[in-house]
Amino acid sequence: MEISSLFCLLLLLLLLPPSSCLAQKQAYIVYFGEHSGDKSWEEIEERHHSYLMSVKDTENDAKSSLLYSYKHTINGFAAVLTQQQASKLSELEEVVSVIESKKYGMHTTRSWEFSGVEEDKPRLSDLVSKAKAGKDVVIGMLDSGVWPKSKSFSDKGMGPVPKSWKGICQTGPAFESSHCNRKIIGARYYVKGYEHHFGRLNETTDFRSPCDMDGHGSHTASIAGGRRVYNVSAFGGVARGTASGGAPGVRLAIYKVCWAIPNQMKSLGNVCFDTDVLAAMDDAISDGVDVLSLSIGKSDPYNYTDDGIAIGALHAVKRDIVVSCSAGNSGPTPSTLSNVAPWIITVGASTVDREFYSPVILGNGLKIKGLSVAPSKLRRNKMYPLVYAVDIQKPHVPRNESGSCIAGSLSHKKAKGKIVLCYRGQGISRYAGSLEVKRSGGAGMILGLVPAVGARLHADPHFVPATAVSYDDANRILKYIKSHRNPTATIVPPITIYGSRPAPAMANFTSRGPSLVDPHFLKPDITAPGVDILAAWSEKDSPTKLPKSFDPRIVKYNIYSGTSMSCPHVSAAAALLRAIHPTWSQAAIRSALMTTATTTNKYGHPITDDSTTDNSPATPFSFGSGHFRPTKAADPGLVYDANYTDYLHYLCGLKMNSIDRSFKCPPRALHPHDLNYPSIAIPKLKGGVRIKRTVTNVGGGGKSVYFFESWAPPGVAVRASPSVLYFDRVGQRKRFTITVSGKVKGNGYSFGWFAWSDGVHYVRSPIAISST
Ligand SMILES: *[C@@H]1O[C@H](CO)[C@@H](O)[C@H](O)[C@H]1NC(C)=O
Ligand SMILES: *[C@@H]1O[C@H](CO)[C@@H](O)[C@H](O)[C@H]1NC(C)=O
Ligand SMILES: *[C@@H]1O[C@H](CO)[C@@H](O)[C@H](O)[C@H]1NC(C)=O
Ligand SMILES: *[C@@H]1O[C@H](CO)[C@@H](O)[C@H](O)[C@H]1NC(C)=O
Ligand SMILES: *[C@@H]1O[C@H](CO)[C@@H](O)[C@H](O)[C@H]1NC(C)=O
Ligand SMILES: *[C@@H]1O[C@H](CO)[C@@H](O)[C@H](O)[C@H]1NC(C)=O
Repeated sequence: MEISSLFCLLLLLLLLPPSSCLAQKQAYIVYFGEHSGDKSWEEIEERHHSYLMSVKDTENDAKSSLLYSYKHTINGFAAVLTQQQASKLSELEEVVSVIESKKYGMHTTRSWEFSGVEEDKPRLSDLVSKAKAGKDVVIGMLDSGVWPKSKSFSDKGMGPVPKSWKGICQTGPAFESSHCNRKIIGARYYVKGYEHHFGRLNETTDFRSPCDMDGHGSHTASIAGGRRVYNVSAFGGVARGTASGGAPGVRLAIYKVCWAIPNQMKSLGNVCFDTDVLAAMDDAISDGVDVLSLSIGKSDPYNYTDDGIAIGALHAVKRDIVVSCSAGNSGPTPSTLSNVAPWIITVGASTVDREFYSPVILGNGLKIKGLSVAPSKLRRNKMYPLVYAVDIQKPHVPRNESGSCIAGSLSHKKAKGKIVLCYRGQGISRYAGSLEVKRSGGAGMILGLVPAVGARLHADPHFVPATAVSYDDANRILKYIKSHRNPTATIVPPITIYGSRPAPAMANFTSRGPSLVDPHFLKPDITAPGVDILAAWSEKDSPTKLPKSFDPRIVKYNIYSGTSMSCPHVSAAAALLRAIHPTWSQAAIRSALMTTATTTNKYGHPITDDSTTDNSPATPFSFGSGHFRPTKAADPGLVYDANYTDYLHYLCGLKMNSIDRSFKCPPRALHPHDLNYPSIAIPKLKGGVRIKRTVTNVGGGGKSVYFFESWAPPGVAVRASPSVLYFDRVGQRKRFTITVSGKVKGNGYSFGWFAWSDGVHYVRSPIAISST
C-alpha cells in the first residue's frame, strides 16, 4: 500500500470526512478518442508519457504509475493518479474524459440454478452447415480465460488459421503455446488494473496466464464456439446431453480480463476491471476479431461516456465488429440492465425445455415430482426408512422447527441409512442440507421448497442422492410421515426429459428495462437460452464452486445459468450470420436477429415470465424483440442499418459527442428516436411523435412489396407513411415515418408492435410506450 493511501486510511479511522483523502491514488482511464493512424507505437507511448509527466513530479513516478497505453485504435492510457492529478488532466484541451476505474462482475447467477430448455437443433444444424459452421469467423471472448484441454476446444479437422489473423498466444502457468490451436487461435491476459487494486495476483487462486481456474470463461467460450460434444454428462452420468456450441467451426480468441477476488468464496465469482477490459478490446480490434462477446457488466447504469465497455464497443463497431453483451442478472426488479448502448446487442436469458427429472416414490405408492442432478447410489427397488429433520435433531442442539437441515443439527444415530426430509432454509446455500445429511450418515434427502425462496425447483448436484420438491409436495410428504408408523421412500435416479414445461420462459433473474441511461431505446434487445446450460468447465474448480474441502469433485462439463450463458449464444448466431453474409454491417446483423425473434413459446402461446407465479406473459422489457431464431435471421428480408457516423449523430443529440472529437456535430442534432433502430421506446408520449426509419432490402429475390401492420395498446395509434414499400433490387433503401399518437391508459409502460411483411418475410419491431 502506498504511503498516501495508508495515511488516508488512518485518517478515516480517526473519523475525518473522506474529503481529506484527495491524495488517495486510484486507477483512471485518460481518454483521447481515436488514434489518427499516422503515429508509431513509440510516438504514442511518448505522448502518453508526456501527459503523465505534466502532472507527475519525476520520470520514475510517471513510468511506474502507467498501467496501459492503449495504442491500436483506442487512444488513451490507464494510470494511477490522485484526484487532483486526474482533474488537472481532464482540463487539458485534448483530453476527452478522465474516467475513474470501475469493477465489473460476471453475469452468472450466484450459485447455479436449473430449470429446463433447448434450441431447435435440427434446423440450427442446417444453418451451421450453410455457414460452414462459421469457418474463419473469429469470436473474441473477454472473460476468465479458457480451460484449453477440454474436448470442446479440439481443433480436429479444422483448416489453417485465417491469414488475416494478427493475434498472439501469450503463455504462462498451465497455458503453453501448444494450447493455442486452430480452434483457440489467440490468447492473452490483462491483469494490471486488477493488481493495482488488489496487489499481486495470488497464484494459488488463479493462473497468471490465459488458463481458466474459475470455469466461467470455459463455459461461455464453449457455448459461443466450442465443438459440439455429444453424450457428455455433468455429474457422474446424470444430466447427459450435448454440450452447447452454437458455431462449432468458428475460431476463438481468448482475452482473460476477469480474476479471482482475493480471500473470497469462489462462488462469488470473479472481478474484471475496465482498465483491463479496454486494453483487451483495443488488442482484439486490432487482432482482427469479427464478434466480441462480453458476459460481464454492472447493474448500476453508467452513462456511455463513463462506461469502458460502451467506449470500447463503439471503437469496435466502427470496424463493423459485432459486440454482444449480457443484460445482467438483477431481475425481476425494473431498470436493472447493464450494457445498454445502442451499438451493443443486449441479451436477456430464458429457459430451455429440459428437466432433470428425479421423482420420489413413497411407501404408499404415491409418486411425487422432483428435480435433481445428484448421482443416485440408492439400491434399486429398495424402500428406505423416511424421517423428518425436526424429529431427528441432536438432543443438545437448540431446537429448530423449520426443518432446514442446519449444519451440525442432525443425530447420526437417527439419520443413518435413512432418507431425510429437509426444507430449504432462507439465506442458506442449497447444498447445506445435503452436506449435513451426508455428514450424519443419511442415505438420501428430499429437499422441500419454502415460499420465501420463490417457486422454482432447482436440480442440483447434491452430496447424497437427493431431489428437490415443491412446498406443497413437501407438505404432503410430511403428512405421510406423520400419519404412518413406518414411513418409507426411495428417489428415482435423474433422467433428462424434454418438453415437460412451456419454453422458452423468461428467467426470474434476467435484468429488466427500461434503460435508465437513455429510455429512448427499448432494451434488452433479445433473449436466448441462459438457464441450465451444459458446457465446458475448468478442471481446477469444483462444479458447485464450494471450496475443495467441501466439494472435491472435478468435472469436465458443468451446468450453469445466467445472462452470461445467453450472451455467447447470440455471439455464435452473429458469427454464423457474418459467415453467410460477410458484407452485412454490425447493425444489419443485430437487426436480422431482432426482427426475426419470436415472442411465442414452442406451443405458440406468449412467452411467459418466471418471475410471476401464474405464468403471466413476459414483456419486451425482459425479452426485447423476443427469443432469437438464428435460422430465420439468415433471411430477414429487410434490415435497419446504422453505422458509426449514425451513432455519433445520436451521441450529439445527448451532448455526449466527446467520445470522438474528430467528428463535428451538425447544428441540428439527431433526436435519439431517429437513430435507425429495429425497436422503439417512447418514455413520455403526449399527443404524437414522428419517428424516422430506413429499411434496406436484403431479400434474395430483389423485387418485392412490403405492407405495414401494427398493433397498439388501447388509447394509442401507430401508423406508417408510406404504408407500402416497393423494392426492385437488393441493397435498395426506403425511408418511412412511424407516427405514434394518443395517450397510454394508466401508469407506466404499455407495449405494441409494428411489422413489414411481403408474404414471405415478417420484419417485426416491438414498441414500448409510457405517458407518465
Ligand atoms: C493465497 O491464497 C491461499 C488460498 O486462498 C491462501 O492460503 C494464501 O494465504 C494466499 N497467499 C497470500 C500471499 O495472500
Ligand atoms: C453415452 O455414454 C455412456 C457412458 O459413457 C454410454 O453408456 C452410453 O451408451 C452413451 N450413449 C450414447 C447414445 O452414445
Ligand atoms: C449521466 O449524464 C446525465 C446528463 O449529462 C447526468 O444528469 C446524469 O447524472 C449522469 N448519470 C450518471 C449515472 O452518471
Ligand atoms: C431455524 O433455522 C432457520 C434457518 O433455516 C432460521 O431462519 C430460524 O431463525 C431458526 N429458528 C430458530 C428458532 O432458531
Ligand atoms: C424471483 O426472484 C426474487 C428475488 O430473487 C424472489 O424474491 C421471488 O420469489 C422469485 N419469484 C419466483 C416466482 O420464483
Ligand atoms: C453511414 O450511414 C449514413 C446513412 O445513415 C450515410 O449517409 C453515410 O454515408 C454512412 N457513412 C459511412 C462511413 O458509411
